Order: sequence, then structure tokens, then C-alpha cells
Amino acid sequence: MQDITTDFLVIGSGVAGLRAAIELAPCGKVVVVTKDIPTESSTEYAQGGVAVALSDEDEVGIHFEDTIKAGDGLCREEAVRVLVEEGPRRISELIEWGAEFDKEDTKLSFTMEAAHSRRRILHAHGDSTGKEMERVLISKVRSFSSVRKFPFCTVLDLIIENGECRGAYILNNEDIISIRAKATLLATGGIGQVFSRTTNPAVATGDGMAIAYRAGAVLEDMEFVQFHPTALFAPLAPQFLLSEAMRGEGALLRNIKKELFMKSYHPAGELAPRDVVSRAIISEIVRTESNHVYLDLTHLKADFVKKRFPRIYATCLKYDIDITKDLIPVSPAAHYMMGGVKTDLNGATNIRGLYAAGETACTGVHGANRLASNSLLEGLVYGFRAGVAAAQRQGAEALKRKRVEEESSRGATSAVQRFLDSTLPNLDEIRTALRRIMWDRVGIIRCGDSLGEARVRLSEWKPLTEMNFKTRRELELKNMLTVALIITESALERKGSVGAHYRSDFPEKGENWQNHRTVKKPASRKISAPA
Ligand code: SIN
Repeated sequence: MQDITTDFLVIGSGVAGLRAAIELAPCGKVVVVTKDIPTESSTEYAQGGVAVALSDEDEVGIHFEDTIKAGDGLCREEAVRVLVEEGPRRISELIEWGAEFDKEDTKLSFTMEAAHSRRRILHAHGDSTGKEMERVLISKVRSFSSVRKFPFCTVLDLIIENGECRGAYILNNEDIISIRAKATLLATGGIGQVFSRTTNPAVATGDGMAIAYRAGAVLEDMEFVQFHPTALFAPLAPQFLLSEAMRGEGALLRNIKKELFMKSYHPAGELAPRDVVSRAIISEIVRTESNHVYLDLTHLKADFVKKRFPRIYATCLKYDIDITKDLIPVSPAAHYMMGGVKTDLNGATNIRGLYAAGETACTGVHGANRLASNSLLEGLVYGFRAGVAAAQRQGAEALKRKRVEEESSRGATSAVQRFLDSTLPNLDEIRTALRRIMWDRVGIIRCGDSLGEARVRLSEWKPLTEMNFKTRRELELKNMLTVALIITESALERKGSVGAHYRSDFPEKGENWQNHRTVKKPASRKISAPA
């Protein structure tokens, strides 16, 4: 096994990981590990924009109130305060580094999205906001010679010694590398691929959450998965996101009979909170016995639509849908995980030396339902904070180079072997079945029976979560199964409906609804160095 020693290890290259790397780079050697090419992250695909209280008509206090309201009583107020107060500074800095957000004349142009009481969403090149932010952050990271990138590397596990995180084992093609670091940051994004319908890229398999859980980190709020109301639903087309900004600019939702329906579900109509719109669409789909509804922009000026949403226009056109003339078939899809690795306001987890930021982390900033376009801002603000905190570990202690004690995991391994021998599972079949079960049973509308069925099915494959796999695809399945089980268990335990978590058998909030649910792996199996 090859050994590399660095000062800081950043796992993930979306907005949070890159922003942290920029803070770490002047303080020591940084290794950034990514599973694919560095730009392949949820950030790259974020369309609508980034919410920030920078317009003349806005105030941080109003952004705070809107975020708290969307979070449905479960936001950590101090985390939200940090987000809205530090957000304008982080965005201004990004503009100084070259980010080109769209303007009207000389002033920044702000759009509207659901549950915002002001036009506060900055956008870039119409609907390529994340791509623009990623471009600027990558070029800033490139300006530091202290940062070394490892693309196409999958993390096997964290290195935990004496209860402290000392880096990670990674898979580089078929070779295992141990990367030892004084501080390790998880910024691997979300879990969308656990569901068969998702707006997330293929890399979003819950890796950061699963490896943190295996190492003994606390996860929190894992029942809260946000479903985006409008992903493209067309044969052979990807489940491409159709930004909420389209409804912000006046797009309407129609059922397959072409009838408008949103006003009968919520007074805010198309701009009702995301969970309300997603459930309304599912109700219409069931009522009309179809599998989709339509997004309608045909009443808007064609030139405006093409200019405002160039990427969406071009993508839909590839599938023979001209969004200026045709109704767009859409249905909801898993979009964002509000829960994650529990951290303090500086990205620190319960494991010394381990930090998390962005969608992988749970600071409590989103509560039970994220306000649209708050996630890119979260990545910037909390990526920065985690970077500053992790940098402070530099020099605090000399790097200890102890070998990890091999733990006997023979019992577990033989149970796994029995499972493999007895069932000879096809891992790709399991992956597909898992995603379908999660969508059908743990999706937008859940109940005790559906969740119980999911738990039984997922538990059959549980031995896979203990396997020492050696390929990216196998490791992804192990991580997907780990987070799927945790999401299902958390959803079963929350007997009430709050924010994005809706239980048809408990439609009210229920008792003790303000409690946050945390999970931690029992300390039965320690992680050992891969052979
Ligand atoms: C969108 O453009 O609708 C996605 C923005 C977000 O999820 O924050």
C-alpha cells in the first residue's frame, strides 16, 4: 500500500470542498480527492442560483426569517444566522475572484423562488449558476501550488487511530493509497442516487455520510430528504432539473388534462414550498392516472425564455421539446438531503480531526426543509468556516504515524461470506432494486407500512455494508445501502409530518416533533486497514 502524508485532506470538489481548500492552501499541503473529474459534483449542475441578501430591497433579517419558516421549526437558529450574515461577504469575495453573475444594466439581477419573500436569487449565464461558481473556485484553487488533486479516486474508509481521524484510505484504480493528514474534510455532496428518480449526478451516492458513520461519526436529521417538484420526465431523457426559477419567472403547472391545479393546494400556487408542490403533483398524478404533469412556459416571451434559461432550453431541445412552444413533461425527483454528518458551526464532527461541510454535513441550517437556493451559499459559508477551523489543527500536534491496529472482523466476514455464498447476488441488480424501493416506499409520501416493507427488503442486503469491497461501483453500493437503511429507520421513527418528511399515517407534526434524531454506529466493529 502506498503511503502519502499531507497536512490536510479534502474529500470532494464541489463548492464546499473547494472553498475549504482555498482557506487551507496557505497553511500547508492539501490533497483534494474526487471520485470523478473535479467538476463532476452537484455544484456543477445547480441551475437556479444562490440566495443572498444583497439587493437594495432585501435584508439579512428577512433572509433569516424566510429560511427559518421553510425549515418548519427545525432550523438551528444560530446556524441560519451565520449563513445569512456571512453570505454576502462570501459572495462579494467570489465576485472579486471573477464570478460573473447576471446583471441588469450595471446592477446584479435577482430572481424569485418559492418561499422567498424577496427577489434574492443571483444567477449566472441564466441557468448555470453552480457551473460558474465551480469555475471560479477551481481556478482559485489552481493558483496554490500547495494543493494536489487526486481525481478518479474513491474513498474506502477513514483512518481512525485512538479515536481521532488521521486521513483516509483511497482506491486509485486498483491500488489502495493511505493518505495521512492532520485534518480531513468530508464534502462529498448528497445522496440523490439512493432514489430511482433524482436530479443529482451519478456521483451522489452518500459516500461521505456512510464513511463517517462507519468511523463512528454522528449523523442527524436523516429522514429529511427534499424532493424537487420538477425534473424532466421524457422517454430516453435524463431526469434533468427544471429550475424552480422557471416558476419564479411565471411558469405554470398543469395536469395531463392541461388543467391548472396548484391554487387548489396552496394559496401561493406554483410558488408554494417545495414539499407542498411535490405532494400536489403526486396527488394529481394519482388522480389523473398518469405518471407526470406539465410545466408550461408557452405564455412567456420566447426570446426571454431562451435568454433566461439557455441550458434548459438547449437540453430539452435535444429531446424534441421546445420549451417556448411545448408543455414540458415533469415529475418530482429526490434533490437534497437536509440531514448529514452532525457538525458544529465550524464543521467539526464528534471525531477529532474530522470535519464536514456542504450537503454532506448537518449544521441544522436547513431544518426539515431547505429554502431554495440556500445550498450553494451554505457550501461557501460553511466550507470557508470548516477550512479555517481545520487549518488551526496545523502545528497543534506533530503528525503521529502509528499503524492502525488490525481489528479482528472475522465473525462479520464469515457472515458476509455466508450471505454471498447463499445468494450469489448481482450487485447491479441490488443497486437498481434498492433505488426503486427507496423511491416507492421511502419517497415523497411515506407511511409505517411502506417504510416497514423497505426496512425488511433493505435488511436482506445488510451484510454488504460490512464488505471490504475494492471497486468504485461496489463501494458506492455499500454506501448507498448504509444511508438507505439510516434514512428508512429515521423515517420510521419520526411518527409525524414535518417539512419534507410526510407520513400519510401521521399527517400532523406529532409529539416531541422538535427533537432532532441522531444516529451513531454501535462500537462493535472498528475499521481496519484494508489488506
Ligand atoms: C433549482 O434551480 O430549482 C434548484 C435550486 C435549489 O435546489 O436550491
